[in-house]
Amino acid sequence: MTPDQTPPDLTPHHLKEEVLERSKTIPSSWYVHPAYHKLDQDRIYARTWQYVGSAARLAAHGDYMTDTVAGNPVVIIRDKAGDLKGYFNVCKHRGGPLAMDACGHSKVLQCKYHGWTYLLDGSLRGVPRFDRTELFDKKDFGLDPVCLREWQGLIFACLEPDHAPPFDEVMEGISERIAPMDLSTLRFHVRDSYDVKSNWKVYVDNYLEGYHIPLVHPDLMTVLDFRSYQTEMLKHYSLQFSPLAGDTMYGSKDDQAFYYFIYPNIMLNILPGRLQVNRVDALKSDSCRTIFDYYYDSITPEDVKGRIKEDLAFSDQVQAEDIEICEYVFNGLASRAYDQGRFSYDLEGGVHHFQQCLKRSYRAVLDEMGAS
Ligand code: FES
Ligand SMILES: [Fe+2]
Repeated sequence: MTPDQTPPDLTPHHLKEEVLERSKTIPSSWYVHPAYHKLDQDRIYARTWQYVGSAARLAAHGDYMTDTVAGNPVVIIRDKAGDLKGYFNVCKHRGGPLAMDACGHSKVLQCKYHGWTYLLDGSLRGVPRFDRTELFDKKDFGLDPVCLREWQGLIFACLEPDHAPPFDEVMEGISERIAPMDLSTLRFHVRDSYDVKSNWKVYVDNYLEGYHIPLVHPDLMTVLDFRSYQTEMLKHYSLQFSPLAGDTMYGSKDDQAFYYFIYPNIMLNILPGRLQVNRVDALKSDSCRTIFDYYYDSITPEDVKGRIKEDLAFSDQVQAEDIEICEYVFNGLASRAYDQGRFSYDLEGGVHHFQQCLKRSYRAVLDEMGAS
C-alpha cells in the first residue's frame, strides 16, 4: 500500500478497543473514505464465510448457481459424486463467464465466450482451435476453486479460508440455540435485492440495534415485544432476540424471534417456520446491495397468496424504512459536522460489538503494514 492509498484514521489510537460504556463510535472516515473499500473487500469480505444460497436448490448432478463473493463472480455446482464444488466464474482463457444465469443445469462448465470446457473437478478439458498454440498445457489452466461449507442446508463460501476463522468456530452454538428448529427443513422461496446509497457499515450498524425501531419502524413495534428485546455478543456473531408481541402473523407470544448477525455482513432472521437470510455486499465506498433470501416451512399456493405475500410486503416496508434512514445517515457521516459519536449501553451493544470486530480486522492490516 503506497502512502496515498493509506486509509485515513487507521491508527493505533482509532483501533484501540474500549468497553461499551466508554467507547466512541468508529471514525466517519471508515465509512466514507474510498480507500476503505478495497481494504474491506480484500481483508474482511474475502477472509470471512459468505452465505451464497440453499444447498437443496442444487439437488441433482449438474445443478448450479452463480453469485458474487467479495466482489468476485463465483459458480457453485453439484458434481457426479454428489459433492458441491465452488469455482471462480472466470475462464482462464480471457476471463469469460462459465455461467451467466443465476441458476441452471449443466454437466460441464463451458465458457460462454469462446467455448473452453471444464470438467466439474475444475480441470480444463476442451480447447477449440488451439492446435498451433505453442508451450500450452491444459493442466496449467484449471479453474480456481472456492472453498465451500454447508450448515443447516445453507451454503457458505470463502475466498481465503487460510486467513479466515474456522467455519465451525464461527457458527458455534447457533444450531443448539435455535433447536428444535432445523433450518435445513425449510425451503427456499425467493431472493430479493435492494441497492442502498450508503456504505455497507451504515447498513450493518443499523441492523444491529433496536434503538431506532420506535421512530423508524412504528409498525414493527406491534410484532416484537420491544421491552423484552435483548442482545448477546459472542466472538464471531451477535444475537438480538425478543419474544413475539401476542398473536401476530409470525406466531404467538410464546415464540421467539432470533436475529443473528455473523461478522461481517450476514444476517439470519429466524421466526417460527420462516428464515430470512440477508447478505450486505459492499459495491463501492458509497453504495451497497442487500440480498434477502426467504425460506419457509411450507410453500403451498395458499401460503404464497397468504402469509408469504404478507411477510414479503411487510419486509419490503421495513426495508424501505431502513434504506431511507441509512442514506440520510451516510450523508450525515460524510458531512463536516460529524466524526465520532457514543453508544446507548442498553440498546447499541450489537453495534459496538461489530465495530470492535472491525477494529480487529483493521489492526491485522496495520500490523502487517508495520511488519513489511
Ligand atoms: S474467455 Fe473463455 S473461452 Fe475465451
Ligand atoms: Fe431497521
